[in-house]
Amino acid sequence: MLHLNSVSKFFGNLCAVNCVSLTIPRGQIIGLIGPNGSGKSTLLNLIAGTLPVNGGTIHFEEQDLTRASADAVFRAGIARSYQDPTLFQRMTVLDNTLIPAKSQRGERARLAPFHRLWQGEERSLAQTAGGILDRLLLRRLYDARASDLSGGQMKLLELGRSLIGEPKLMLLDEPTAGVAPNLAYSIFEQIADLRRTHGLTFLIVEHRLEILFDFVDHLYVMHMGQVVAQGTPAEIAADAHVREIYFGE
Ligand SMILES: Nc1ncnc2c1ncn2[C@@H]1O[C@H](COP(=O)(O)OP(=O)(O)O)[C@@H](O)[C@H]1O
Ligand SMILES: [Mg+2]
Repeated sequence: MLHLNSVSKFFGNLCAVNCVSLTIPRGQIIGLIGPNGSGKSTLLNLIAGTLPVNGGTIHFEEQDLTRASADAVFRAGIARSYQDPTLFQRMTVLDNTLIPAKSQRGERARLAPFHRLWQGEERSLAQTAGGILDRLLLRRLYDARASDLSGGQMKLLELGRSLIGEPKLMLLDEPTAGVAPNLAYSIFEQIADLRRTHGLTFLIVEHRLEILFDFVDHLYVMHMGQVVAQGTPAEIAADAHVREIYFGE
């Protein structure tokens, strides 16, 4: 589904991502791990089009997304969440969920004054958003400001609002960062459920290996900008080189 071939990114002299190649098959949950500063977030930014690549190619389905803008990447079906939630803090939970919906007629300047032309669409989007909030256990908070949510609820809302754009691939940067352990596990259960019910594909950066390893099909390990290992959770857990760089053994 997604194919990176020798992708690189420099910040001045620092090579944050160094000739990374990886493949993400449709319908899988793929983990991306590695010590702090190994280039994981930068790699997600390159895929998402929020940073330009300095070398290599990125293909998604039949399209070349190497130089695509962030909104072109989103339109192609790739959504992402950030390590630190980037919600609109003073908007409600429901409005945050509705914003990424694609091609809303009421957003076009010429149609906006004519409520009747888009109220049906808005109603059906609100219903879809209600369903998403329901499954993430946020529905009763639909009218609360995003700033009033707990850390875990913010992470769930970030996940939920990506869904309204009907993505095919989701890039999640530490979906459980700052979340209590029991909620962290249930975030991953939601992810597995989304794969099951919507056929979604995931690339997930996560530090909580004990949770991640229960859910992923395959892992890539980064170290100093490079992919230094890949394999199933069992293979990665047993890899001596990975244990050395990642666990300091
Ligand atoms: N915008 C930036 N400008 C300069 N250096 C950056 C920038 N973003 C990340 N880096 C550097 O690139 C390296 C990889 O960072 P990052 O991708 O955030 O790692 P990770 O997500 O694995 O912790 C780090 O050395 C970091 O300091
Ligand atoms: Mg990071």
